[in-house]
Amino acid sequence: MTPVVLIAEELAPSAIDVLACDFDVRHVDGTDRPALLEAVAEADALIVRSATRVDAEVIRAADGLKVIARAGVGLDNVEVPVATARGVMVVNAPTSNIVSAAEQAIALLLSVARHTASASAALKRGEWKRSRYTGVEVQGKTVGVVGLGRIGVLFAQRMAAFGTRLIAYDPYIQPARAAQLGVRLVGLEELLRESDFISVHLPRTPETFGLIGEKELALVKPGVRIVNAARGGLVDEEALVVALREGRVAGAGLDVFVTEPITDSPLFGFDNVVVAPHLGASTVEAQDKAGLAVARSVKLALQGEFVPDA
Ligand code: NAD
Ligand code: MLT
Repeated sequence: MTPVVLIAEELAPSAIDVLACDFDVRHVDGTDRPALLEAVAEADALIVRSATRVDAEVIRAADGLKVIARAGVGLDNVEVPVATARGVMVVNAPTSNIVSAAEQAIALLLSVARHTASASAALKRGEWKRSRYTGVEVQGKTVGVVGLGRIGVLFAQRMAAFGTRLIAYDPYIQPARAAQLGVRLVGLEELLRESDFISVHLPRTPETFGLIGEKELALVKPGVRIVNAARGGLVDEEALVVALREGRVAGAGLDVFVTEPITDSPLFGFDNVVVAPHLGASTVEAQDKAGLAVARSVKLALQGEFVPDA
C-alpha cells in the first residue's frame, strides 16, 4: 500500500509536489481535533507547523505513524518523548525560517520605535497626527537579546548595522562566541536594567516560559520597548499589560501569544503595541525551505533511509 502522508497545516506547494510523487498525500485541519484524530489513524507521516497540537492522544491514535515532521523550528507543540517512546521519528527544519523570524523581529522593533502601524491605521482613519507619533531612533541605543541562538544571532548581526550597542543573556553560549559577534554577554538582571530594546529569541520550555514576568518587568529601564517574535508566554502577557499601563514599558511588538489563535486581548487595546498573527515564518522563502526540508526528511524516513539534519 502507498504510505499516507497527512498534512495538517498549510505547506508550500513545491513540497506537496515532491511528496505526491511517491505517497498518498492527504490534508486535514490540524486544529480540528476530531478530524485530526480520525485522519492520523491511517497516517504513516504527519506534517505540521505550529498550530497543530501533536500530543500523546494524537500520537497514540496513530498506530502506523513512523514520522512526525515539523515544517519549522519550534518543537513545543510536539510531545517528542511520547513519539520517541513509540518509535516515531520527529524531524524539523531548524534553519528554514530563521532569517524570516529575525527580520520579523526587526520589523516589529522598528514599528514600535516609530509607531509605524498605529500611525498608518490612524491616517487611514483620516487622522493626520504628526506630533502624536514622534518616535525614537535605535542608533546608539542598547539592545538586549534574550537567547543568542540561530535567530538571536541573525537579529543581533542586523541590529549591529543600525549602530546599536548589543548585549545578550544566554547561559548556554560561550562569552568568546558572543564577543566574536560584538555582543557582550550579561546576566538577565543586567540586560533588563540596561536595555532600551529587548528582543526575545528563546524556545518555549518549562525553563523559559514566563522568563520575563512581573519581577523582571519591575527591573527594566523605564521606557524599554520589548519584542517577542519567538513564542507566546516567554514574556508574561498579564505582567506586560500592567507594565504598559504604568508606562514602564513604552511599547511592545508581539508576533506570538500564549494562546493561538487569538483575536482579542487586553494587549490589543494599546496604541503602542504592534501585533501580528504569528507571521515570523510566513514568507515565501521560509515556507519553501521548510516545506522542502521536511518533504525530503519524510521521504527518507518512509523509505527507511538515514535522515540527516535538515
Ligand atoms: P536556537 O535553539 O538556535 O536558539 C535558542 C537559544 O536560546 C539558544 O542559544 C539557547 O542557549 C538559548 N536558551 C535556551 N534556554 C535559555 C534560557 N533559559 N535563558 C536564556 N537563553 C536560553 O533556536 P532559534 O532557531 O534561534 O529559535 C528560537 C525560537 O524562535 C524557536 O524555538 C521558536 O520557538 C521561535 N521561532 C518563532 C518563529 C515565528 O514564526 N515567530 C519562527 C521561528 C522560530
Ligand atoms: C517555528 O517555530 O518555526 C515558527 O513557529 C514558524 C511556524 O511554524 O509557523
